[in-house]
Amino acid sequence: MDRAPPRTVTARAARNSDSSASDWSMHPMENQPTPVTVIGLGAMGTALAAAFVRAGHPTTVWNRTAAKAAPLITMGAAHAGAIDDAVAASPLVITCLTTFDGTRLALEPAAASLRERALVTLNSGSPADARDTAAWAIGHGARFLAGAVKNVPSAVGAPDTLLYYSGDKTVFEDFETTLQALGGDTVHLGDEADLAALYEMAVGALLLPALVGFFQGAAAVRARGLEVNSMVRFTGKWLDMIKTLLPVYAQEIDSGDYTNAASSVNLFLAGVPYDEDLGKETDVDTAWLAPLHDLVRRAAEAGHGDHSISALTEVLRKPRCRERPGGFVPGT
Ligand SMILES: NC(=O)c1ccc[n+]([C@@H]2O[C@H](COP(=O)([O-])OP(=O)(O)OC[C@H]3O[C@@H](n4cnc5c(N)ncnc54)[C@H](OP(=O)(O)O)[C@@H]3O)[C@@H](O)[C@H]2O)c1
Repeated sequence: MDRAPPRTVTARAARNSDSSASDWSMHPMENQPTPVTVIGLGAMGTALAAAFVRAGHPTTVWNRTAAKAAPLITMGAAHAGAIDDAVAASPLVITCLTTFDGTRLALEPAAASLRERALVTLNSGSPADARDTAAWAIGHGARFLAGAVKNVPSAVGAPDTLLYYSGDKTVFEDFETTLQALGGDTVHLGDEADLAALYEMAVGALLLPALVGFFQGAAAVRARGLEVNSMVRFTGKWLDMIKTLLPVYAQEIDSGDYTNAASSVNLFLAGVPYDEDLGKETDVDTAWLAPLHDLVRRAAEAGHGDHSISALTEVLRKPRCRERPGGFVPGT
């Protein structure tokens, strides 16, 4: 890529440019790449900004630790010295800080410049934090979308990388083409700003138990003097098998009918001592499994012994959460 000379953005320069904020958001430039601002240049924010630069979008960047902007400036991004200048520079402002709280704190000095800007958050966080941030941003006149990147920084910009968004659908529609520079699998889940955070956490819940399971297996294999690499292919196939089960279990949970059990709660209960034996034999700490074993036991005690293992969902759900009307299938 050609090296562009470093550009510095000031609020006055941005406000004196040809297009007002309202022009930009009302009439996205269809024939020219939309200017974008990226705030927060950690591992993920840097990947997001680099993807916009590569896609030809005039990209302004800001980070609390300004030195992290250097590689992006080399690529052709403009650096804003003040966060207010960064917000004023583009109709579309993407933030990627660690938390929603940090995002609001960092944006506070630029709050007046948020009016009519499309603000898109791409950090992780709880649905409650997303709702608070939506209220804060809309209160300052911004059009708000909360999103989540369901992949690692190196996957940003790839055609099958998934990002989902929720909140103001007009923001999604106005900037959908621009947002696709971050990943080709781009989905709007609905108008409620907390949906992306809900799905981010609901889908992400699998990660830690799945990884700890892999690490436990790795420790057991290492205890026998074998290389962990020797089990990677088999674990990959195991994950493929689990993937095929997800729609089956989803159907059982959505219908509440657990009677057609291919793998029953009792079958998992029978396997509990194997985990304990393996732990003793290999000197691997399997204590992290105790609450999971307890969950299986409680399911059997509640009468789900012959039911599908997906009936564990019933044990996990607390009574007040059991019904929520108005279910929908996002992204279809
Ligand atoms: N990395 C991943 O694999 C991944 C994948 C999916 C989602 N995410 C999500 O993306 C978000 C960012 O992750 P990351 O990997 O980029 O994290 P990171 O590398 O730790 O970067 C964090 C960024 O947030 C900024 N920041 C934090 N608190 C701040 C504050 N109070 N004021 C101003 N700036 C603040 C940091 O600024 P300084 O540079 O000044 O410290 C830095 O730019 C997180 O919510 C994460 O869960 C990450």
